Amino acid sequence: MFCSCIFIWLIVAAVALKIYLKLRNRQNGSYACLVGKTAIVTGSNTDFYTKTVIFTIAFKIIGIGYITALDFASRGARVILACRNENKAKDAQWKIIKETKNPNVIYKLLDMTSFESVRNFAKDINATEERIDILVNNAGAGGLGNHKTGDGNQITMQVNHISGFLLTHLLLDKIKKSAPSRIVNVASIAARWSKLKVEKMNNFPTDINASLADGQMYANSKLANILFTTELAAKLSGTDVTVNVLHPGAIKTEIFRRVPGILKIIVDALANLYFKTPEEGAQTTIYVATSKELQGVTGKLFDNCKQIELYGVAKNPDLATKVWTKCEELAKLKSAEKIK
Ligand SMILES: NC(=O)c1ccc[n+]([C@@H]2O[C@H](COP(=O)([O-])OP(=O)(O)OC[C@H]3O[C@@H](n4cnc5c(N)ncnc54)[C@H](OP(=O)(O)O)[C@@H]3O)[C@@H](O)[C@H]2O)c1
Repeated sequence: MFCSCIFIWLIVAAVALKIYLKLRNRQNGSYACLVGKTAIVTGSNTDFYTKTVIFTIAFKIIGIGYITALDFASRGARVILACRNENKAKDAQWKIIKETKNPNVIYKLLDMTSFESVRNFAKDINATEERIDILVNNAGAGGLGNHKTGDGNQITMQVNHISGFLLTHLLLDKIKKSAPSRIVNVASIAARWSKLKVEKMNNFPTDINASLADGQMYANSKLANILFTTELAAKLSGTDVTVNVLHPGAIKTEIFRRVPGILKIIVDALANLYFKTPEEGAQTTIYVATSKELQGVTGKLFDNCKQIELYGVAKNPDLATKVWTKCEELAKLKSAEKIK
């Protein structure tokens, strides 16, 4: 009797928490029309059914980049899906065109593990596109392990941060010419737990468990996204190009695909019960990229469709400047490409 009472209370508490989290989610509330605007969304290809079929039900996997691109297309923008996997990207392009009836959706190859790919992508965009009104640096990954890219960088740091840093530099002239324009960086709440040290930012920690080290690299790369945003906003002051950063929340997407062992079962259970859907998770990106009330707002951090205060190390201007200089070196920026 006592046990069944506790069990009922646990279920009530679990349902109450679910209802609270659902009610807390804010919508972007933006009515902005994007006809005549061009938007680039990196990592926007994820929309497919899993191979895992339970009782003949296959599960749909969607990324927040895909939902962001879908939203921009539904507002009439020309949308460029910047993705590394041609098949997934073509599939996403086809689905977005079909759903929005906007034929002006294209995809271009972009692999964040390779500076050559980033440079080729930027060269192509600069040569063929008239304008860039919105750049969403969304592509990201976790659990990539202790590997280096062909450019000699720690893979998580390059994919999640340095390639986006390089891409933004290479597209900046066109973004400036299209002003008022917006750069949106997708970071993570994980940045709060970062232990970023400038001199070690490109090193995979080897003195701790590999999974913890992966988490630490992810957190460091996401703090770097925030510091990049505040520093870039200061450098772009007076240009009518705004740059903001956001936490999308905990969202049920493919980002957790490499979580190891038992932890994956726990994360999947939590994701199914409590994480935001990709549609809910994309709301803050869409809000920051399109909302008219954010015109001129720059260098700020957003969560759940509202501005929040920068916390701890994320508001350390000295660290931001040092990380910027280190990233210029890691991205192998030429002198003429640096932002003065
Ligand atoms: N889900 C969450 O709870 C959560 C929380 C905080 C922050 N975020 C951030 O939100 C962003 C989007 O993640 P998501 O949750 O939507 O996960 P996702 O579905 O896995 O999307 C990540 C996207 O990034 C792409 N990507 C990964 N590595 C790449 C590379 N080397 N080159 C080019 N593209 C690459 C992926 O492409 P492939 O399909 O080819 O791998 C995919 O399109 C990420 O920056 C992530 O850090 C997510």
